Amino acid sequence: MFALKLWYAFLGIFIVRVHAVLVDQILAALGNATDCASCHASVLPPIRTLAALGDSAFVSTFIQVCEVTGAEDNDVCEGELQRSGPILAHDLRNFEVGGVTATKFCEALFGLLTPFTVEFPKPAPLMPPAFVSKGRTPFKVVHMSDVHIDRQYTVGADANCTKNICCRNFADHVGSINEPAGPFGNGRCDSPSDLAQSLLGAVQEIGHDAAFAIFTGDVVEGVIHLSRLSTVYIDLQEWNSQMAASVGLTVYPAIGHDTAPVNSFPRNTTNPLIGDSQFVFDTQSSGWKRWIGEEAAQQVHHMSGSYSKIVPGMNLRILSMNTQYWYKQNFWVYDKNEQTPDPNGLLAFMVSQLQLAEDAGQRVWIIGHIPSGKADFMHDQSNYYDQIVQRYKYIIAAQFFGHSHKDQFEIAYSDWSNQSAETADSILFIGPALTPTSGNPAFKLYDVDPDTFEVLDMKVYFTNVSSPSFQEKPIWELYYSARDSYAPLVNINLSPTDPLNASFWHKLTDVFEANETAFQLWNTRLSRGGAVTPCTDECVRVSICDMRAARSENNCDVDTPNANFGFKRGLPEHVASELELCEGTMIRRMFTRMLGKNRRI
Ligand SMILES: *[C@@H]1O[C@H](CO)[C@@H](O)[C@H](O)[C@H]1NC(C)=O
Ligand SMILES: *[C@@H]1O[C@H](CO)[C@@H](O)[C@H](O)[C@H]1NC(C)=O
Ligand SMILES: *[C@@H]1O[C@H](CO)[C@@H](O)[C@H](O)[C@H]1NC(C)=O
Ligand SMILES: *[C@@H]1O[C@H](CO)[C@@H](O)[C@H](O)[C@H]1NC(C)=O
Ligand SMILES: *[C@@H]1O[C@H](CO)[C@@H](O)[C@H](O)[C@H]1NC(C)=O
Ligand SMILES: *[C@@H]1O[C@H](CO)[C@@H](O)[C@H](O)[C@H]1NC(C)=O
Ligand SMILES: *[C@@H]1O[C@H](CO)[C@@H](O)[C@H](O)[C@H]1NC(C)=O
Repeated sequence: MFALKLWYAFLGIFIVRVHAVLVDQILAALGNATDCASCHASVLPPIRTLAALGDSAFVSTFIQVCEVTGAEDNDVCEGELQRSGPILAHDLRNFEVGGVTATKFCEALFGLLTPFTVEFPKPAPLMPPAFVSKGRTPFKVVHMSDVHIDRQYTVGADANCTKNICCRNFADHVGSINEPAGPFGNGRCDSPSDLAQSLLGAVQEIGHDAAFAIFTGDVVEGVIHLSRLSTVYIDLQEWNSQMAASVGLTVYPAIGHDTAPVNSFPRNTTNPLIGDSQFVFDTQSSGWKRWIGEEAAQQVHHMSGSYSKIVPGMNLRILSMNTQYWYKQNFWVYDKNEQTPDPNGLLAFMVSQLQLAEDAGQRVWIIGHIPSGKADFMHDQSNYYDQIVQRYKYIIAAQFFGHSHKDQFEIAYSDWSNQSAETADSILFIGPALTPTSGNPAFKLYDVDPDTFEVLDMKVYFTNVSSPSFQEKPIWELYYSARDSYAPLVNINLSPTDPLNASFWHKLTDVFEANETAFQLWNTRLSRGGAVTPCTDECVRVSICDMRAARSENNCDVDTPNANFGFKRGLPEHVASELELCEGTMIRRMFTRMLGKNRRI
């Protein structure tokens, strides 16, 4: 008995020593990481060696690295690495050094492209279908996104803490409360349930005559180092029920990052005993059936959360895509050496549904969480996605996304090297968010032509968190109408039936290039006038470039080593804040901080 205890004591000392050596090695490797080549040469070998020692060695070593570098609070280091660390270790044990996947793993932090040609069942029609406006009364559609509801939001808890999300009774809280959380939310906290209820009330009132609503994902709160499958499950169900009870409209939703650990959607090539997100698809399949019907609900179940649904009484098909398999920070996509151009067959599903629509003479709206042009949308899959958009551009009337929390748009082009109003051919409407973490809570209301299904106007409604009455009762009001505000700037005489299409938005980017005042108006509106980030010089150039980049390889968020490893340094502020957003797993923020802080030591 005593011998056994002694043995355990020795073992303990041995493990501590091993860890100390490993921690030093990892710190040295991280300190050496300056570019993609050094990621391969210096970073991957020692962390692969560590992963080979097993999940617990990997997790405990990185917890120490995280704590030594002060990258995050200790409980965050521990909580998040306990959750996401085993996935990273699993990846590292499974891909080969110098292989394609190793490059991809580094590409989550840098940037490269693997060519692939998407196959189509039929060539594009010689005579593309024409959808002509008959000047009929437009119908309305509500767009909600990124609600991020914290069901443990606690009124009176500290709204000024060192975690990424506050307003909760965290176990490690000491001392007095700096700033007590109010009933309806705070810029450092995700949405209280009462704010979500207030949004739904506003949607019911302002959007009472809307034809339907879309919701482009992200339900759970940003306290992701504590996320658990059981709470994600409850959060998804509660939001579905809350919408069903309060909105009074059919809602067409899309899958966001909601699983546990956040963003972790294993592909169908991963052993389900190691990782499986089917519970998310099953939860949403049953939760969404009331709106999308049995057939689409079956697709949600079988097609990894994606579905296609013809809006009753309309010649419009909604294609809702789960964009998580195309996301750089879904670390499950690095667990195999062979690259899969089309994880879980979702691009093929898109093609099949678009072909059905083309054959039936329908128009299509694509909805999803992550816009295809974002820096964190994989370059490869964004390129393949764009091939599909280009093939079916005649029937895709518009696309709708969330994720950035900002009020943004992105444009796709038939000729990416010759971007103009003539080559602009698809428009993506993005956000804004409910969560007050990136500005004032907001939603959009579109006016839509009932014959072309193109957007005639986009109105943003918001509530001002800085208003003295906000904590008593949020007031929702019109912030601006894109048509009223931007059409005069573009200086074209839009007839009532002319849509705000890709050509229109491209012309607006030309205005932004020439007119700094107009650009600043857009920049203020990004966050609905709250928590505005100044954007001048290089930031203006990058922002306009990004508007013209619905294909991520074309965006200007250049992945420099600084952008990835040196947390936030060397980046235009708004790009840095975008990379830093809470929907990225905590793990990326933590790892970039380990490096950033390590360099400063
Ligand atoms: C860091 O880089 C230097 C210079 O290239 C090299 O000598 C050293 O071995 C590297 N250290 C690690 C841990 O990769
Ligand atoms: C928030 O906390 C920081 C650090 O503790 C402190 O400097 C700051 O004054 C606090 N702000 C408020 C509004 O309490
Ligand atoms: C994974 O999905 C692809 C595309 O739908 C399919 O071809 C393949 O058979 C699936 N693999 C497994 C193991 O289910
Ligand atoms: C660019 O596109 C415009 C409009 O389609 C076209 O007139 C022009 O010839 C193109 N230029 C080049 C270099 O392809
Ligand atoms: C956009 O609408 C205008 C009419 O206002 C039309 O001339 C132009 O071709 C359209 N562009 C696209 C990409 O559909
Ligand atoms: C520039 O934009 C502002 C609005 O943002 C507008 O008032 C002004 O007239 C524009 N200037 C020109 C020269 O078009
Ligand atoms: C929000 O309210 C504050 C305080 O009343 C005010 O200064 C600010 O201009 C308002 N923001 C917007 C976008 O209306």
